[in-house]
Amino acid sequence: MSDPSEVMWNEVVFSLAKDIEKIVMPIFGKPEAGKDVGTNVSGDVTKYVDKIAEDKAVERLKALGINIVSEEVGFVDLGSEYTAVVDPIDGSYNFTAGIPIFAFSFALFRKKKPVYAALYEFATRNYYEAIPGEGAFMNGEPIRVRPLPHAKAAVSFYTRERGVGLIRRVKRVRVLGAIAVEMAYLARGTLQGVVDIRNYVRPTDVAAGTLLVREAGGKVVDEDGKDITVHLSAEEKMNLIAASDGELLRVILEEVNSDGS
Ligand code: IPD
Ligand code: CA
Repeated sequence: MSDPSEVMWNEVVFSLAKDIEKIVMPIFGKPEAGKDVGTNVSGDVTKYVDKIAEDKAVERLKALGINIVSEEVGFVDLGSEYTAVVDPIDGSYNFTAGIPIFAFSFALFRKKKPVYAALYEFATRNYYEAIPGEGAFMNGEPIRVRPLPHAKAAVSFYTRERGVGLIRRVKRVRVLGAIAVEMAYLARGTLQGVVDIRNYVRPTDVAAGTLLVREAGGKVVDEDGKDITVHLSAEEKMNLIAASDGELLRVILEEVNSDGS
């Protein structure tokens, strides 16, 4: 078995993403993709497409001897120092409904520290990567967040009803249904913020996105403005506020924490 510190993670993860693409794309938007095949560790329905994508990821990563945290199976403990936090398909509803916004999301941790993250967006074939201290990249080219004054910002905003005043303080709201992809868009400067305050997203959804946004110069905090820590868990539910810069972050926190009056 290979030593995880010697593995070329960029090659391994990219080839895994391409293998998953081969398996899932033939059923994109087809009814069989959305067939209910069980319940995952969070109690949500596992769809057929989630299952086949995850089976491939688990098979490949297990062979490398690392632990895996993935959305459907939960924690697979192989006693390694390294853990991959994976969402084989982020945006499952989009996938089954034929909306082309979904991705494979991967983040590797050594003990509790992130060491590599990647996201493969199937529709555009863009491959995003982040390496702590080295930056964020799309198809090998460096990417950065693109701060704008809040009145010009485009923000992805998931809420039940809290903080809706934010809608009036930014120029555009986009809710794309795949938060990992939305965080990659923030990292490359096409969105300025990603906010989910439903206490609903899990580490598997946001582990890669968090490293991508931070390495691209953005901020990822909780509703108190504290840097979030991504735990090695498939079940924990969290709130997340990611922003390109401090000015927008201040406006978002103000609205999210206001009583609405
Ligand atoms: C979902 C998407 C969605 C977010 C949900 C996630 P899934 O992931 O990221 O944008 O709002 O919280 O569960 O279930 O499609 O992998
Ligand atoms: Ca998923």
